[in-house]
Amino acid sequence: MFQQQFTFAFLFILFSALSAYGAIDRHAIVSRYNPVRNMSSNTTPMQVGNGNFAFGADITGLQTFLPFAIMSSWGWKNDSLPPNRSLEDIENYEGVSWLSHGRPVQFEFGGVADIQQWLISNPNRVNLGRVGILFLDDRANIQNITEDDLDDVRQELDLWSGTMTSQFSFSRQKVTVTTSSAQSDSAIAVTVTSSLVKQGKLGIFLDYPWNDGTAKFSAPFVGSWNQTGRHTTSLADDRVLGTGIRAQISHTLDSATFFTSIGGDNFTIHRDSLEEHRYSLVPAGNVTSFSLSIGYSLGGTSPLSSPSSIRQESKEQWEQYWSQGGFIDVASGSTDPRAEELQRRIILSRYLMRVNEASNTPPQESGLVNDGWYGKFHMEMVFWHLGHWALWGNWELLDRAMGTYQRFLPTSIERAQVQEGYTSGARWSKMTDPSGRSAPGEINELLIWQQPHPLVFAEYDYRAHPSRATLEKWKDVVNETANWMVDFAWFNQSSGFYDLGPPMYVVSEDTSPNVTRNPAFELSYWRFGLDLAETWMNRLDIPSPDAWKEVKGHLALLPISNGLYEVYEGLEANFWTDPAYINDHPALVGLHGWLPITANVSLDIAKATADRVYTSWNISNCWGWDFPMLAMSAARNGEFEQAVDWLLHPLFKFDDVGMPIGGVRVPTPYFPGSGALLFAVAMMAQGWDGSVGPSPGFPKTGSWQIDTEGLHTAL
Ligand SMILES: *[C@@H]1O[C@H](CO)[C@@H](O)[C@H](O)[C@H]1NC(C)=O
Ligand SMILES: *[C@@H]1O[C@H](CO)[C@@H](O)[C@H](O)[C@H]1NC(C)=O
Ligand SMILES: *[C@@H]1O[C@H](CO)[C@@H](O)[C@H](O)[C@H]1NC(C)=O
Ligand SMILES: *[C@@H]1O[C@H](CO)[C@@H](O)[C@H](O)[C@H]1NC(C)=O
Ligand SMILES: *[C@@H]1O[C@H](CO)[C@@H](O)[C@H](O)[C@H]1NC(C)=O
Ligand SMILES: *[C@@H]1O[C@H](CO)[C@@H](O)[C@H](O)[C@H]1NC(C)=O
Ligand SMILES: *[C@@H]1O[C@H](CO)[C@@H](O)[C@H](O)[C@H]1NC(C)=O
Ligand SMILES: *[C@@H]1O[C@H](CO)[C@@H](O)[C@H](O)[C@H]1NC(C)=O
Ligand SMILES: *[C@@H]1O[C@H](CO)[C@@H](O)[C@H](O)[C@H]1NC(C)=O
Ligand SMILES: *[C@@H]1O[C@H](CO)[C@@H](O)[C@H](O)[C@H]1NC(C)=O
Ligand SMILES: *[C@@H]1O[C@H](CO)[C@@H](O)[C@H](O)[C@H]1NC(C)=O
Ligand SMILES: *[C@@H]1O[C@H](CO)[C@@H](O)[C@H](O)[C@H]1NC(C)=O
Repeated sequence: MFQQQFTFAFLFILFSALSAYGAIDRHAIVSRYNPVRNMSSNTTPMQVGNGNFAFGADITGLQTFLPFAIMSSWGWKNDSLPPNRSLEDIENYEGVSWLSHGRPVQFEFGGVADIQQWLISNPNRVNLGRVGILFLDDRANIQNITEDDLDDVRQELDLWSGTMTSQFSFSRQKVTVTTSSAQSDSAIAVTVTSSLVKQGKLGIFLDYPWNDGTAKFSAPFVGSWNQTGRHTTSLADDRVLGTGIRAQISHTLDSATFFTSIGGDNFTIHRDSLEEHRYSLVPAGNVTSFSLSIGYSLGGTSPLSSPSSIRQESKEQWEQYWSQGGFIDVASGSTDPRAEELQRRIILSRYLMRVNEASNTPPQESGLVNDGWYGKFHMEMVFWHLGHWALWGNWELLDRAMGTYQRFLPTSIERAQVQEGYTSGARWSKMTDPSGRSAPGEINELLIWQQPHPLVFAEYDYRAHPSRATLEKWKDVVNETANWMVDFAWFNQSSGFYDLGPPMYVVSEDTSPNVTRNPAFELSYWRFGLDLAETWMNRLDIPSPDAWKEVKGHLALLPISNGLYEVYEGLEANFWTDPAYINDHPALVGLHGWLPITANVSLDIAKATADRVYTSWNISNCWGWDFPMLAMSAARNGEFEQAVDWLLHPLFKFDDVGMPIGGVRVPTPYFPGSGALLFAVAMMAQGWDGSVGPSPGFPKTGSWQIDTEGLHTAL
């Protein structure tokens, strides 16, 4: 009896422990994929960071040999204005007027070329600087060392604690560098340990690049190191510095100034006499190891944490991230040989998303690794960048950026109603800067698929937090988003339906905007979004406007030719074999995959259309999120082997540290690919509304065993 009770209690305790910490040994699985390098990659850094700040390192755990970037959500600058242009010229920029169903609509593209280009490329996101190991000779002269001078090189990123450790020998003496990132601040902690330190032969250098908007893509490195005359740096000698700061460097580029604060163990620092903007830092005292905190900020006044508290914060917050929220184990119990690579992609993407795609603004295409589109927000892709957070139970990370919709509501209302002359609603922008302004561009202005995204995010928020507060939080955004969708739909007297476009661009951006009308994917997304908006108002007990019901009930039907949906109404029937239309994002597979089947979409036709895409689209020209989108389509259509194949397609690649390779069309990393991978995998593992059974998107052959914890179902 006693023993029985004891056993029962023991089992109870064991069970509680399992459910508290999860049955999956998360630490073991995560650590299995710690990236290890023995030389620098010329294309991607190993990173530490926190979503708003990231530090990209070469093989030394710093930027000794390769100037990978230090990027943030807050570091932006404006270039000087074009010659003979004033701020007034910029503010009064007007693009062109195009007709939409006979009505002239003002769009922000074209117009005066130099002003347009300035607005496209400004503000641009800056690389905050460079930190490297300083090698000194016996007489304290700087040695010119290359990576080839190092031996016994090994670098490992401990994902569980967000700590990078680099080890190497130099002059036959061992050097260890550990690097971690603060989680609540833009700072790193660095510890360098070596007998060379005691001999006065190792220190740290800091350097600063010029940044401007001359290049749309700046990859793999950001900024220019040989335009030293265009910017200034200086060491604060006598200024009173904030708590924890022993030295501070200010860096001014045009009218922007950024500060680097340095704290930790004692050191001496001076400006180099030979290299402008380069500073040499040597530890003080007879020590074999020294630790520094190096923080970046706009004001220079914020306190700097000690190296040990930064390390501790990194350890705690990463452990919390991995322990809580969703988890998927596709590899432990599976015999399919592809499972291991899929698991690697999942773990490394989970790490990189939290470093690069969890900021308080929407991410740029390349996160915080380098610059794409001048560093601007990638608002049409934001679903692929951020949607996965909802399925993985990381609402607090997703929520950081969600306030952007509320913040950009006034400029989006102005865009819709003042600039473009619609009578109501807010039109969301595509390529956007922190003020909410849209970068001029024909595609930027005429794309429409970014419009329903906030309705989807709101719905996921409500599913996670079904409360009055959530309904109120999104009410205005939902309302004005739907208002513009309804106003944009144009009543076609002769058909009796509401049409979308022209002018407009579809997801694939490859059709002629003045003739693009009633695209299949956008019609379905419109329908889906309006359903969500109407449901939102019902939950609030507010009658949704009659106009919403009217438009939703009479949206044009999806265009069909030869029994298949077509990209848009009236496109030539042979478009399936025309290179002009089969080389970009195959959004037609999104009709049943990315989206659930909406009213007026035939499941049979959607499936037949997806099958045709699989065989007719130029898959060798697909990239990034195309593959997870194809997988989501295959999963919903019951083609489970095919779904896994898409996720591991040879053209959908992740490098040794998990960076998503840009592929044929864009630079590396292309983070919508990682976000979409995590979205698709979570959907296949946890299911979608109406799916049946466990891991409904994976093959049922027995070669796959999928274990999940804390995931949420997709819509
Ligand atoms: C470095 O790592 C690569 C890939 O893991 C391996 O093929 C190579 O042999 C290693 N080189 C050395 C010198 O250890
Ligand atoms: C850049 O200039 C624009 C236009 O004057 C201004 O609104 C914005 O705040 C500036 N941004 C930065 C980072 O200086
Ligand atoms: C700027 O204005 C000055 C004086 O009017 C003129 O000489 C110069 O050519 C102009 N520069 C450009 C780039 O238009
Ligand atoms: C679209 O139509 C406008 C007139 O409304 C015209 O100015 C423009 O050149 C056309 N664009 C294209 C790409 O055909
Ligand atoms: C350092 O070495 C590199 C590569 O050998 C060389 O290009 C560079 O000029 C050297 N710099 C100095 C300051 O000697
Ligand atoms: C500056 O460096 C870049 C490479 O970063 C090079 O393309 C350019 O030619 C250099 N310019 C000068 C003036 O040396
Ligand atoms: C740092 O230097 C200060 C004097 O500049 C000295 O008082 C202090 O003891 C030193 N601290 C360490 C850890 O060496
Ligand atoms: C540094 O410390 C070592 C012992 O660790 C000692 O042998 C050496 O003399 C010290 N050097 C100086 C300059 O104080
Ligand atoms: C929705 O927006 C319209 C137009 O701005 C406004 O009149 C209406 O009061 C809003 N509805 C709610 C529930 O806020
Ligand atoms: C109205 O719809 C019909 C049928 O879809 C189409 O042929 C016609 O071009 C549309 N009218 C306009 C002005 O777009
Ligand atoms: C579209 O779907 C709605 C809702 O199911 C239905 O009421 C309507 O009749 C459908 N329209 C057409 C033209 O089939
Ligand atoms: C398909 O894509 C490849 C790779 O980009 C390209 O070389 C080829 O020309 C494309 N084929 C067609 C038919 O468009």
